[in-house]
Amino acid sequence: MSRFSVKKNIAKAKTISTDVYRSREAFEIFKEKIFASSWQFVGDTDRVKEKGNCYPFTLLPGYLDEPLLLTKDEQEKIHCLSNVCTHRGNILIYDSCKTTNLRCKYHGRIFQLDGKFKSMPEFKEVEKFPTKSDDLHKLPLFQWGKLLFTSLKQQYEPKVFFKDMISRVGWLPLHEFYFSPSLSKEYHINANWALYCENYLEGFHIPFVHSGLNAIIDFSDYTTELFFPFSSVQIGISKTGENYFDLPESSPEYGRKVAAYYFWVFPNTMFNFYPWGLSINIVQPLAVDKTKVSFLTYIWKEELRTAGAGGDLDKVEKEDEEIVQYVQKGIHSRFYKQGRYSVTREKGTHHFHRLLAQFLNTK
Ligand code: FES
Ligand SMILES: [Fe+2]
Repeated sequence: MSRFSVKKNIAKAKTISTDVYRSREAFEIFKEKIFASSWQFVGDTDRVKEKGNCYPFTLLPGYLDEPLLLTKDEQEKIHCLSNVCTHRGNILIYDSCKTTNLRCKYHGRIFQLDGKFKSMPEFKEVEKFPTKSDDLHKLPLFQWGKLLFTSLKQQYEPKVFFKDMISRVGWLPLHEFYFSPSLSKEYHINANWALYCENYLEGFHIPFVHSGLNAIIDFSDYTTELFFPFSSVQIGISKTGENYFDLPESSPEYGRKVAAYYFWVFPNTMFNFYPWGLSINIVQPLAVDKTKVSFLTYIWKEELRTAGAGGDLDKVEKEDEEIVQYVQKGIHSRFYKQGRYSVTREKGTHHFHRLLAQFLNTK
């Protein structure tokens, strides 16, 4: 798949070939090379609040499809484990529960809450048993505030993905944020996942696509900063002189009226911080032309929730969805393969395209 290349110099570069959004091969390559090797959001510590709590889930259903389990052991340590029994592969835990150990419902194999094999009926005669491979596979966990992340391949240190965001807004009391299921939402989009991400990565379209948002944030003062290799931030400044963060002096934006921080972490996670809290967007590929996007709402100051840049996210999302679905139609044209970038307004999208090309080209 070496036909994908995007020049480093944005002024000389062409956008990535539309084949990238159409190719089933690229869709499959991204699954293992990008999604399985990056750090993915797995919920927050409230999922396993008490000792003995177990929370089973599937990582990126319909794409990675990896059955995983969060547990909290007797020492209050949280673990992220494979939720597949090491005997014959049954799913170990079906529903959230509170327990002292993990017992498989197929033939009764028992594991500790940290994933260590404990016992198994009818296995006395089995030689060289148990070994380490009879323990549940343990995945790495990275915690920021109450937010938890894991990586299936453990190819990269989590700091490569998160450190720039954390150093920028680490002053926020993330532990006080709480997840609101009723304010969270899922959107189904008939488009390739990368089109959704690249749209997010530029504010260029705001005056054209989001009239409401454009009245709230100052387009002339909108900035994008790239963090290499794997993240970026866009910063929206309040146009109305209202609904902005009360920033600490340590913030590089101190003195500015920041209405929103839009952080993107490669490949599919967006952390949108508003004065009311955080909206995490998880972009989940389902098919080469189908994507699910989860908007997970974490409230900090409920009284501020309906105002400012983060006041009507549903409207902004539907505007993005509509334009991205038109682009999905456009990329099937025989007459369009590549375009060019605005040097001032599209460096986030250029950065993303460069990463896609790089991963497609690595062996
Ligand atoms: S598959 Fe779990 S005990 Fe057999
Ligand atoms: Fe948008």
